[in-house]
This record gives sequence, structure tokens and C-alpha cells, in this order.
Amino acid sequence: MTRVLVVGNGAREHALAWGLLRSSAVDEVVGAPGNPGVATLGECIDVASDDPAAVVALAKQIDASLVVVGPEGPLVAGVADALRADGRLCFGPSADAARLEGSKAWMKDLLVTAGVPTARHATFGAGERDAAREFLSTLPGGYVVKTDGLAAGKGVLVTESLAEAFDAVDAYLSGRAFGAAGATCVIEEALTGPELSLLVLCDGTRAVPLPAAQDHKRVGDGDTGPNTGGMGAYSPVPFATPDVLDRVMAQCVAPTLAELRRRGIEYRGILFTQFMLTDSGPKIVEYNVRFGDPECEAIVPLLTSDLYAHCVESAAGALTTPVTAAPDACVSVVLAAPGYPTATRTGDLIEGVEAASDVDGVVVFHAGTTLDSGALRTAGGRVLVVSAVAADVAGARERAYAASARITWPGVHYRRDIAVQALS
Ligand code: AMP
Ligand code: GLY
Repeated sequence: MTRVLVVGNGAREHALAWGLLRSSAVDEVVGAPGNPGVATLGECIDVASDDPAAVVALAKQIDASLVVVGPEGPLVAGVADALRADGRLCFGPSADAARLEGSKAWMKDLLVTAGVPTARHATFGAGERDAAREFLSTLPGGYVVKTDGLAAGKGVLVTESLAEAFDAVDAYLSGRAFGAAGATCVIEEALTGPELSLLVLCDGTRAVPLPAAQDHKRVGDGDTGPNTGGMGAYSPVPFATPDVLDRVMAQCVAPTLAELRRRGIEYRGILFTQFMLTDSGPKIVEYNVRFGDPECEAIVPLLTSDLYAHCVESAAGALTTPVTAAPDACVSVVLAAPGYPTATRTGDLIEGVEAASDVDGVVVFHAGTTLDSGALRTAGGRVLVVSAVAADVAGARERAYAASARITWPGVHYRRDIAVQALS
């Protein structure tokens, strides 16, 4: 009996569970804690997913052949380490390696040491307000202020106003804005150019990229309004040419993994490389230590190779199965609750999910939903992700939007321009 425990409760974990079940080797998936979407595929068991001992106990209880950890929180908390110490296969990096996402100051220092192209930066702590202001004043225009620690995707300010950057520094360093996560902050020059996501399977030594994807961070069409967790994605990306991807792998991923090894850290899991295609080539914006969300929902439906094999081989330090993908395109549209991302209202009745799933090539993944006496209701800012596969991007967009139009709740909103950049 091959049973896979999928840790997490979002659309990414729904897509992972769905992708894992396509493998002939997988008998069952179990969500921890999962969501109503994951529950259509397998049992869901409530667990404190950031508690290593609790996840280890659950993996033992269900005798999991593999544990796939979706979100960064459990990885930063050491869930992968605890599972490995207990002799269990885990797809996801150790807490040491997860510092790539858990501490931006640590990550930037590693990039500089490894010679990886990235935005010029400096790190400041409490009491360094004046030095931070001085550094900001040396930047050529376009300022980025980030929390060092995790801030649920909300800790990054990108602005052209020096005054706004000064205010942010005050709010971060005093702990007023993000508590301890922001009391150390990283200040960077702003990069410009298209932003891309390359998710790379790693096994400690080898690194194999999945098809490239592009996220849409801002809430509104034309990249307007506040940043979100991601409002939609598509894959593959036409301007992520083989040359660009080779450069990212050679100039960014390889030296990063080598520097991690030099520090005694073996990276097993997904290294999610977020980079900007600047005039002077690709530069790293961030690393994340897990699948991107919604990138995952746009990549997994395209894979024709065995996701379970990839995860097991990465976890075991022996990537061998080649990554293959259908020659198609996938477009994923995030359907959000009213007010998201600033003042989200939840609890609204969702209708039309089945009708949407009937559209050819469409899968609907659950992000923030709950079942309440049999009725599906909104339970988060990002509620559903509608992924559609077709022969090309135009076809996939048509399907994704036709399906999205069948889903309703009061105040549902979504971007209408997901993947338009790939059309021209
Ligand atoms: P994060 O939530 O940490 O992935 O960052 C949020 C977003 O802020 C990124 O996806 C970029 O769009 C933007 N960003 C972060 N750093 C920079 C930078 N140095 N220059 C321009 N934009 C940036
Ligand atoms: N889509 C961006 C992220 O997962 O952080």
C-alpha cells in the first residue's frame, strides 16, 4: 500500500494530491489537514502542520510511504528534519535549507557569497534607522523594503517614493508593522523586467527544472493594486527561452546549491527560483523552498512524467526520472473573496464548481473553502483556482475563463488578464 501524506491546506496541496494520484504507484493520498478539495481525493486528518512531532506521529499512524510538505511554515519549523530523523521519506528541505525563504538577510548573504546575480542590498536591525535611511538615499530610484522573516507574503514594499520607504523602515524596525519578522529588514534596489518562476527539483546534488511559469502578483488587471499571494499563473512561458533557463540554472541555481553544500546543507525538495529578466540578464528576486502557489496549479496538470517518482527520488537523493510535460499550455485563474487582499469577507455560499469542472481540460482546485452542513462556503482570500489545459495559451485562457464564469458567490473577483503577456 503506497500512501502519501500531503501537508498543507491550500490549492497547491490540492494540485499536488491530484498530481500524485495520477501516478500508478500511488494508492492513497491523505491531506494534513487538507481542505474540501483534497477531501474529494482522499482522507483529511486535522494536524498542527507546523508542529514537527505532530506531523511525525501522523505519518507513523498512517504508515506514509512519503510525506510531501506543501507550505514553507512547516519546513522552516523543521518538519522535514523530524520526519527524516524518524526514518521517513520526506519531500522538502531541512530547516537549515529553508532559511533561504525564512530569512531574506541570510538568503541575500548566501547569494552574494555564491556570486549569484541579484539586486544590490543591505540589512538593518533595530537602532539602525539612520543607516537604513542613508542607504536608501544611495539607491538610483525605486526602493524595496522587506521583512527579514516570514510575513505571509505581505512583508515586501516596492515603491518609487523615498518618503514611503523611510516610513516603512520606521514601521518595520520598530516592530510596529510585522513584529519580530520585520525588526530586521532588507533594503534593495528595485529591479525591472518580466518576473518568472522556475521551480527546480533538487536531490542534494542534482537539479532538474520543471516547466517555467509566471505568476500575477497584483490584485488588479494590468498589474494594479496591492500585492497578493498570486492571482493567477500560466505555463510554459514563451519568453523563458532555453537560453534564459540555462543561464538561471548555471548562474543562479548551481552556485546556490554549491554554496549550500559548502555550508554543510543538502537541499532536497523544490527550489523555487523567482527571477527578473533585467536588461543585464536574469537576477534572483527571491528563493522559496516549496512549490509556488498558484504556479503549482499551472505546472502539475502539464506534467506527463510521474510526480510521485520525482518526489521520492528527490527525497532519497537520487533524481533519475526525466521531467516531461505535454506540449500544451495551462492557465490558472484565482477566484478571490470580496475585499481580498486587504479586508477579506468570508462565509459566502459558492455555487457552480461542478459545472466549471465540466468544461473540457478544466480542474478546479480548492484554496480557501469550507464545507458547512454540505454547503461549500468561502473561507479565505484566495478561494478557488481554475486550471485549464489546452493546445495553446489562447485556448487554455478561453477554457479557464469559461469555467470561471460558471462559478459564483457574492463579490467574487478575479483578474481577466492572466497570461495575456503570453499571447503577443
Ligand atoms: P515576495 O512576496 O517576497 O515573493 O515578493 C513580492 C514581490 O515583490 C516580488 O514577487 C516582486 O514582484 C517584488 N519585488 C521583490 N523584490 C524586488 C526587487 N528587488 N525589485 C523589484 N521588485 C521586487
Ligand atoms: N506565487 C508566489 C508564491 O508562491 O510565493
